[in-house]
Amino acid sequence: MATVAAAPRAEPLTSDLDVDVAVVGGGVAGLSTAWELIDAGRSVAVLEADRLAAGVSGYTTAKLSALHTFVYDKLRRTRGEEGARLYARSQREAVERVVEVAAVLRVDCELERAPAFVYVTDPARRAAVEAEAEAARGAGLDASYTEETGLPFPVAGAVRVEDQAQFHPRKYLLALADDLRERGGRLFERTRVTGLTEGTPCRLTTENGAVVTAREVVVATHYPVFDRALLFTRLSPRRELAIAAVIPAGDDPAGMYITDEDRTRSVRTAPYDEERRLLIVTGEHFTPGEGGVAERYARLAAFAAEHFPRAEFVHHWAAQDNDPTDTVPLVGPFHPGAEHTYVATGFGGWGMSGGVMAGRLLTELIVGRYVPPWAGLYDPRRLWSTVREAPAFLRHQASVGRHFVGDRLPTTHADSAADIPPGGGAIVRLGGRRCAVHREDDGTLRAVSARCTHLGCLVAFNAAERTWECPCHGSRFAVDGTVLQGPATRPLDVRDVRDVPEE
Ligand SMILES: Cc1cc2nc3c(=O)[nH]c(=O)nc-3n(C[C@H](O)[C@H](O)[C@H](O)COP(=O)(O)OP(=O)(O)OC[C@H]3O[C@@H](n4cnc5c(N)ncnc54)[C@H](O)[C@@H]3O)c2cc1C
Ligand code: FES
Repeated sequence: MATVAAAPRAEPLTSDLDVDVAVVGGGVAGLSTAWELIDAGRSVAVLEADRLAAGVSGYTTAKLSALHTFVYDKLRRTRGEEGARLYARSQREAVERVVEVAAVLRVDCELERAPAFVYVTDPARRAAVEAEAEAARGAGLDASYTEETGLPFPVAGAVRVEDQAQFHPRKYLLALADDLRERGGRLFERTRVTGLTEGTPCRLTTENGAVVTAREVVVATHYPVFDRALLFTRLSPRRELAIAAVIPAGDDPAGMYITDEDRTRSVRTAPYDEERRLLIVTGEHFTPGEGGVAERYARLAAFAAEHFPRAEFVHHWAAQDNDPTDTVPLVGPFHPGAEHTYVATGFGGWGMSGGVMAGRLLTELIVGRYVPPWAGLYDPRRLWSTVREAPAFLRHQASVGRHFVGDRLPTTHADSAADIPPGGGAIVRLGGRRCAVHREDDGTLRAVSARCTHLGCLVAFNAAERTWECPCHGSRFAVDGTVLQGPATRPLDVRDVRDVPEE
């Protein structure tokens, strides 16, 4: 039985390395790709900036489902019946791949079969649910329309898909990592990749100074780094909150639920002990840097408390994912001229099945055994869809433009540090430059550049998490400027706090 080994799991890369394939990023997309490649006989190195399975994949709700909110009715309109069918088949096969690999590795990852539901409470939206049920069924899923669910409140309508799954993503992914290592894969943590030179072979440089030479490179860094195809123009970051509470087993709604109402409500449970289940509720999505996080947590907790009055809250956290402008993840060759570089991104809140699907698809493209029929659907180079996705694309670019020129969000700007309370942060002008200034609880000030090192948008303070967040593409920084989440790869420059006006 594979077990979850204790930290530390992998050393940083300190000397140069030569491999068939370098996978940048150790989340579900990177580890699934690396594992499939090892299985196909390639030598592989995984280069992870932080810890394996500790990015978004470590903080997800981990429903393993091919039912992705309201995707199928939209897909059949934008990609036709065949596009919807290919999407359903590729995602369904990914769900089954996890079940299969977990059994092969004999990993106890709390895998449970359960039905998946998308529901609405607004009767005016019943027709949309019926259309989704029909589209999902037409795409090949075992889907039906229902008004009966296990939720402790009435719904106006729901799509139900049988026999999906839920699991513990870290237990599964760390078991993949253990197996990878046993089969000769090289895993490196605390190894941020800072440069990519494409060629034959490709060359990756790392923050530690070591260089990796690889015939093929897979960029699986969630938001892509080294983005030469301007994929960032087609991805919007979406941050979400999660809370976990212990409930009596008798209160378990017995299924995985999601609605797009109220900025999303998602509900599932996980094993806890003999008499209780762990309830996981996520939602309240917002753009990084938008603020109001404490109020959003309060709304989510109120939803959980109202519907599960015996819930005892034990944890809360936040994580973010990237929405592609045309709904379909971007998985395949990195850019139109790419010969040896690949990307997996834009999972839109469904990267558990999406990341596993990406692992299989990229492996087939790299190994060249067979091209899955859905390769074109996910190909990041797809051009024809830009016309159909134009409104979402233009909306995102308008919002990015606003932040770039310095949209003065009133809550994030201050005239002097005196206006910043302990625990708070604000943008303060300093000799013509904007600085991101944070005041610690003991009154100490910390100042860093307010310009995101990705493409220069202004960062904003998240008071609940005490981080600087970039609204443009979702980079996140600690108050000392360290990169917490890309696409930025360089820290915010530290500014001299003595220059910050105190009044
Ligand atoms: C609240 C929430 C709930 C969700 N629930 C579900 C769900 O129920 N079902 C579902 O299917 N999906 C769900 N998702 C989506 C899913 O979690 C994500 O799509 C998925 O985890 C993304 O995986 P990834 O491998 O792309 O990213 P990550 O897991 O973030 O992995 C990327 C890795 O790359 C590393 N990295 C970044 N830059 C560099 C660099 N320069 N060098 C080296 N390494 C680097 C990071 O440190 C990170 O570890 C949810 C998402 C959120 C936010
Ligand atoms: S994340 Fe792109 S400019 Fe900040």
